[in-house]
Amino acid sequence: MVGGGIVGLAVAWRCRQRGLRVTVHDGGDDDAAWYAAAGMLAPAGETSFGQEALTALLVESASRWAGFAAELTAETGLDLGLDARGTVAVALTGDDLAEAHRLWAYREERDLKVRRLVPSAVRALEPALSPRIRGGAHIPDDLQVDPRRVVAALRAALGDAVVPGRVGELPAGPVVVAAGTGTAALTGLPVRPVKGLVLRLRGEPGLLRHVIVGYADGRHVYLVPRADGELIVGATQEERADFTVTAGAVLELLRAATDLVPELAEFQLTETVVRHRPSTPDNAPLLGRWRDDVIVAAGHHRNGVLLTPVTADLIAGLVDTGRPDPLLEAFAPGRFA
Ligand code: GLY
Repeated sequence: MVGGGIVGLAVAWRCRQRGLRVTVHDGGDDDAAWYAAAGMLAPAGETSFGQEALTALLVESASRWAGFAAELTAETGLDLGLDARGTVAVALTGDDLAEAHRLWAYREERDLKVRRLVPSAVRALEPALSPRIRGGAHIPDDLQVDPRRVVAALRAALGDAVVPGRVGELPAGPVVVAAGTGTAALTGLPVRPVKGLVLRLRGEPGLLRHVIVGYADGRHVYLVPRADGELIVGATQEERADFTVTAGAVLELLRAATDLVPELAEFQLTETVVRHRPSTPDNAPLLGRWRDDVIVAAGHHRNGVLLTPVTADLIAGLVDTGRPDPLLEAFAPGRFA
């Protein structure tokens, strides 16, 4: 396995459960997308127009998360921070609400549950929201998990099968490439970096009860509260490969966050982190056999954490049996050739 991010580790774990011998070459945390990820498991909160096969895969993976987490916790004794209270989506202005209604309608057409709410009902669910909000919705089936805890648990489960160090070229023999943005240099496949800045704040635990997906004056922001008072604010999205934390990007996120939840201005800003989403020309992942001995599991764009369980199951199945699950069909790594 080349790549010790959340996807590579999970594939390796599933391969081991099938009795296969695995070595994971782990390039470390410095450019790993999971290290920034907030852990929203939101097929209804993150899907967008015209991505039917991807939407179906997101929904399928979301349905596998509870079982995946329970199994990993049973094996390692480690809690992954899985939380099932759902997402509250909120719109600050009338224009934001019109945009949100279009997205909610798209999701409802695909049988994803969206409960639309008037402002007073939104604020009954989340009293810390600004009185200025124009409307919102409860998306009850979304989950959240703490990706840093998931990676720690997968590393514990795999033990000395994880070998630190970046590889410059593909090792011989059957290999799975799950190297995120590094997949491009190793394979020539079109995986590009899409920069994201995420902030971590800390303050009063319980100020927010749900993950908040906000539309605020045309800006999109998500707020992911953890039980211990940590709150993740994400994320910018730029077609850039640098790691610079710009004042403007921090301002953009904090302005949207505090427009929606004014009390966040009192929170401590504890961490800024830039990582890069590994993205493809259609922003859907590359999953499946690419060359005789090379299988790819990369390019998950905004959905790496959510897609981890289904990716691990399908890719481990392919490695073990040599037969691709029909779900892999739309995601063939060679589809852009
Ligand atoms: N899934 C959230 C993000 O990529 O920012």
